[in-house]
This record gives sequence, structure tokens and C-alpha cells, in this order.
Amino acid sequence: MKDITILGIETSCDETSASIVKNGREVLSNVINSQIKIHEKFGGVVPEIASRKHIEAISTVTEEALKKANMDFSDIDVIACTYGPGLVGALLVGVGYAKALSYALNKPLVGVNHIEGHIAANYITFKELEPEFLCLVISGGHTHLIKIEDYTKFKILGKTKDDAIGEAFDKVARVMELSYPGGPKVDKLAKSGEPNIELPKTHLDGLDFSFSGIKTAVINLNHNKKNIKKEDLCASFEKTVTDMLIQNTEKALKMENFKKLALAGGVSANSYIRERFLELGKKLDVEIYFPEISLCTDNAAMIASSAYYNYLAGNLSDLSLNAVPNLKIS
Ligand code: KG4
Ligand code: ZN
Repeated sequence: MKDITILGIETSCDETSASIVKNGREVLSNVINSQIKIHEKFGGVVPEIASRKHIEAISTVTEEALKKANMDFSDIDVIACTYGPGLVGALLVGVGYAKALSYALNKPLVGVNHIEGHIAANYITFKELEPEFLCLVISGGHTHLIKIEDYTKFKILGKTKDDAIGEAFDKVARVMELSYPGGPKVDKLAKSGEPNIELPKTHLDGLDFSFSGIKTAVINLNHNKKNIKKEDLCASFEKTVTDMLIQNTEKALKMENFKKLALAGGVSANSYIRERFLELGKKLDVEIYFPEISLCTDNAAMIASSAYYNYLAGNLSDLSLNAVPNLKIS
């Protein structure tokens, strides 16, 4: 089969990224321009600033991706971009840019669901990974247990009823006065703490999650007891949310007798969560996959990878493609 080279573009939140990926799995370049330093002083992402910074960066980031891959636009077969879910103004920059390229270069356009992109990051790290498998998507905006029936066929088995797990990490970090995004800082501090603080675990029927209870408990504890060690609170929070993740994931693995489990999304970079899931894999004799750290958080390589499988399935977009901030998984 002829090689397919895809230019992927990602602008759903606070990273402007462009990447060139061959045949869905081989990354030729993956340029990520992070706005974290800009949003840090506001304690979170400011949507209007994010859009403006995407506009400023998108052409340079794309040119850099081409240069790193030693290519020009004529070497690209397909243009792909994230069209949701995410911040509408941020998404529009990537969608508008990708549509303009597709029109000007007369190349096919593929709109990609950001969550499906996170899942596809596993295909880049594990060249042999194929559906079907179970995927736990844990990011700043999502907490989903998804059955990957095929590359473009998904079935949601469970999801959060309130906050996403990454949101809980970031909120907990914020009340402890750690800078945005808090997840990596909680990860680091927890390593020198003890999980000796009792925090509430919410168990729902079925495979759904809830993290608002533990988030509120940590906020209250931090207000009322000033002598709590931050390290212990981080370790206790991490242990409790991981117990909740493991409980439902184990249930889902057993329900459908899955032999493979992949993690995806920014929170899957967490070192404690990785350790615990590797243990779970050993216990249940299930193969565990997680993307390399740089592919866990937002990047365009994962978007180009997902686009490849959509392209093969004939899921093409046209110039009517629009940003869909609350896009659901298909
Ligand atoms: O997937 P992502 O880049 O963006 C969304 O699609 O939402 O995820 C960002 C989230 C943030 O909440 C960030 O704090 C969290 O991933 N995160 C982590 C770690 N690295 C990033 N959370 C816990 N431990 C980490 N090491
Ligand atoms: Zn993401």
C-alpha cells in the first residue's frame, strides 16, 4: 500500500502543535509550542489569550514541523486537525488554518476528535498494538472507560459524572498553592509523602466515576488543618483517586474479558498511576500500555495518527468543518 503522510494540527487548549506522521505510527516531527508559562500567572487557561497565542504561533509551528521532517507542503497527502472537544476559540484557529491549507493545496481534510487522538497516541508508542482493547482516558477534561472495538469504532463503558480527574489534580494543586498545571507537581511532591490521610472514595453503580467529593474534601482539609504536610496530602489524594480508577477498570476488564488495557491523556503521565496499573496488569494477566510521556499531554502527532485511521475508513471532512467544543466520542 502507498505511504500516507499526514500533517496534523492541534489547538484545542493551550498547546499549538503541528506534526508529520507517516502511516499513522511513524512520527517524522512533532512540534509543540506550549502556552503554559503565559497562563500560569492566571492559575489556569484564559480562553481569549489561548486563541490569540494560537493565531500567533500556528504558521511558524507548522513550518517548523515541515522543516524538521525535511519536507514541504507537496510531500503531504492529508491535512488533519482537532475539531473538538475543547475551547471553541482555540479550536477555530486550527480548524480555520487546516481548511485553508486543504483548499489551497487541494489535499483531503480530516477532522479529528481530540479524545480519539489521545487514544491513538498508544499506536505511536506501540507499533504492534491493535484493537480490540480497553482504554482508560484520563485527561484535564475527560475520564472515560472506552472499549476500542476498532480504530474508528468506540463504545463508552463509563465516564465521570462531574469533574474530570485532571481537573481534580489541578484544583488540589491550586489550593496547595502549586502552579498550573498542578498534576505534574502533585506527582512530584507525592513521592516524598505518605498516603496517611483518609479521603472519601465515591463508588457509583456501574462503571461511572465521580471526583467532586474528593476534590471538595481536600479543599476543606487544606482550609481547616494548616499543619498537614503537602507531601502527605498529595500522596493520599493520588492513592485514593487511583484506587477509584483501578476499581472500575478492573470491573470493566473482567466484564468483557479484555486482554489489553491502554491508558491515555495527560494524567496517564502520572508515575504512581503507571506503577499501580502495571501491578494490576500483572495480577490479572492483562497487557498494559501507556504512551511515552511526551505523547500523553496534548500534541499533534496523536491527531495525525487518529486521522490516518479515519482517512483509511473514508471519514473525510469538507470545508464546512466547524469547531465543536462539546464533541462526543463517536
Ligand atoms: O490531556 P491533557 O494534556 O489535556 C486535556 O485534553 O485535557 O491533560 C492535561 C491534564 C492536566 O490536568 C494536568 O495537570 C494533567 O493532565 N497531568 C498530570 C500529570 N501530567 C499532566 N496529572 C497527574 N500527574 C502528572 N504527571
Ligand atoms: Zn488533551
